Amino acid sequence: MLTLADIELLFARHGASQYSGEPVTQLEHALQTAHLAEQSGADDALVTACLLHDLGHLLNDQGETPSLRGIDDTHQYFALPFMRGLFPDAVLDPIKLHVDAKRYLCQANAGYHAKLSEDSKRSLQLQGGVFSATQAGEFLDRPGARDAVLLRQWDDLAKQAELATPPLAHFLARAGRCALA
Ligand SMILES: [Fe+2]
Ligand SMILES: [Fe+2]
Repeated sequence: MLTLADIELLFARHGASQYSGEPVTQLEHALQTAHLAEQSGADDALVTACLLHDLGHLLNDQGETPSLRGIDDTHQYFALPFMRGLFPDAVLDPIKLHVDAKRYLCQANAGYHAKLSEDSKRSLQLQGGVFSATQAGEFLDRPGARDAVLLRQWDDLAKQAELATPPLAHFLARAGRCALA
């Protein structure tokens, strides 16, 4: 199981790597997602889910733009066993569902797909493609699905070069407030 200090170390060691196909690093992407959530008034658990939603990329580096090589890195699941004892489901569920939230939003929101980045469009196919209307309805019934949809929309906006955010320490403090005792 990871500790908050381990997570800080992971960002220190791997956070400077480029986010596949986007003009931000892994750390910038994490901070921007959490920052957008915070600006929208999200609680500690959802802000923490936003900060850590792509931690699987840091734990399981598949190299540059794996979608170009036909690889689905399943990063939404990879970090979960490492965080299971550290955070409640309110943090883990939106992380687990943030890829399926993209599949949902492509079905539910006209125009969403067109706004996705090229890498997101490419990985969507590897991740199972757009949900049917039935699958979209089933998705919304899953615990954490609505938070995952919110996370996903901040995630999509968190790819901006030079966007100012609070530092990692600020968001780790919020993570500490929702960590399990
Ligand atoms: Fe992701
Ligand atoms: Fe992301």
